[in-house]
Amino acid sequence: MTIKLHKRTIEVLKNLRKFNKDTYIASNLAGDLDIDYIVLMSAINELQEKSLGGFNEKEIDQVSLNDEGLLYLKKGLPERQLLNILLEKNIKEIPLKDFQKFSELNEKLFFIGISYMKKNRWIAQSKATGENKIFLIEEKFPETDLEKCLKKFKANPNLDYSELSKKDKKSLDLLNKRQLIKKKRKTQRLIYLTEKGKTIKISDIEELDQISKLTSEMITSRTWEKYELKPFDVNKPGPLLKGGKIHPMINLINKIREIFLSLGFTEIRGPIIESAFFNFDALFQPQDHPARELHDTFYLENPKVAKLPEKDRVEAVKTTHTNGGDSGSIGWGYNWDEDIAKQTILRTHTTATTIRRLAQYYRNNDKPPIKVFSIDRVFRNEKVDKSHLAEFTQIEGIIIDENVTLCDLIGVISEFYKKIGFEKIITRPGFFPYTEPSMEVAVYYDKLGEWLEMGGSGIFRPEVTYPWGIKNPTRVLAWGLGLERLAMLMFEREDIRDLYINPIKWLREESY
Ligand code: PHE
Repeated sequence: MTIKLHKRTIEVLKNLRKFNKDTYIASNLAGDLDIDYIVLMSAINELQEKSLGGFNEKEIDQVSLNDEGLLYLKKGLPERQLLNILLEKNIKEIPLKDFQKFSELNEKLFFIGISYMKKNRWIAQSKATGENKIFLIEEKFPETDLEKCLKKFKANPNLDYSELSKKDKKSLDLLNKRQLIKKKRKTQRLIYLTEKGKTIKISDIEELDQISKLTSEMITSRTWEKYELKPFDVNKPGPLLKGGKIHPMINLINKIREIFLSLGFTEIRGPIIESAFFNFDALFQPQDHPARELHDTFYLENPKVAKLPEKDRVEAVKTTHTNGGDSGSIGWGYNWDEDIAKQTILRTHTTATTIRRLAQYYRNNDKPPIKVFSIDRVFRNEKVDKSHLAEFTQIEGIIIDENVTLCDLIGVISEFYKKIGFEKIITRPGFFPYTEPSMEVAVYYDKLGEWLEMGGSGIFRPEVTYPWGIKNPTRVLAWGLGLERLAMLMFEREDIRDLYINPIKWLREESY
């Protein structure tokens, strides 16, 4: 049987055979052949129908230069720009200060340039004469690996990270550290020819002169008679319908919300911009606690100062820190500083929000039992990688009631995980400055046969509850669990970033 193909498809086939490679990146190929991507892919589909070719999909990390990187591609890296100035003016040594004056680079770039000139061993710096001077210590200044790598973007503005050589990867990591590039996850299509596609005689292929659409003119003028009409294949599957749908994370959040509502909880929300007071101080975390340090917490410049609650409650928290107040504790024994408590931050946990509920409890003279939960965003200054995000979501809750115990706490947490689909949970001793006892919560993940940590829980210490008038036998059971960790297990994603980067393939296939 002869094979019939559209003219354009035959052209594509001929070209692919001429290039003679194993695979072709679809987006590049469209450029090389100077045809539209869509047109190319419809030709490939036609080849696929006839078993002559096809394509595979691969997820890649695409890297490109950011604006600063593009500028350096044009003008050279700061170190090269500086070097060129010296060479042009034939300067072999010069006081750093003078150099800076006529370099035209701003101060930051100037010093970055100088430091890389030193790293490249182009210059040395010495204060031997009493003056801070630099000296050229080379005659020739060939392109560095970094510059060679940078230049690659000239030929191709988007590079596939996995296809780079070890050396280029190293250079690229350095460019990344210098914040000159941006990375993007992309799905790449790799086109190939089958054995049949590579060997079939072009003369055996017939050019298709079929039409698939009839217009009224064609019918009235009878021109349709000149063409072969494309037959309908009623057994062929229709095109895949890709409708919009609700994001799996939203569905999961709604499900969790339903579970807590069904257990008799009320949802609460609190501000994302929080005071250190509610995020830390009211949780009996001393003001020099390491978690407050800059590498964990995002401190804000604007607004810089937060409002504190009622004076007497601030005083109660202060006293607890200084000497324990009436909580039965001796406190931390240091001078509590109100200004530190007024610092504004992005909340690092939604426990800040449940403490606000304790404040409201005091203000409204509420009576137990109170059961509230929140599912909300928190922020920590973490390096983002496949298991960490700098913004993530906590499933938080408290129960305020008389004579409640650790057993009640374990019961509620187990019930929650059971309802979401995890039958087995384990709690083990943990530590949080604001709970006693404290427990870590882990769920059993069948697929890996492992216990995976999900978050923390415990009973708020008297130092936390007394300032809000909550005293024995009334206690507060509390927990804070990770949403994204849970989502990774439920959606079987290995990279936590996928949950928000939205790989389209996953979103289409995920039925949750
Ligand atoms: N706030 C803790 C965290 O962010 C979790 C927690 C909440 C622990 C409530 C105990 C009680 O990890």
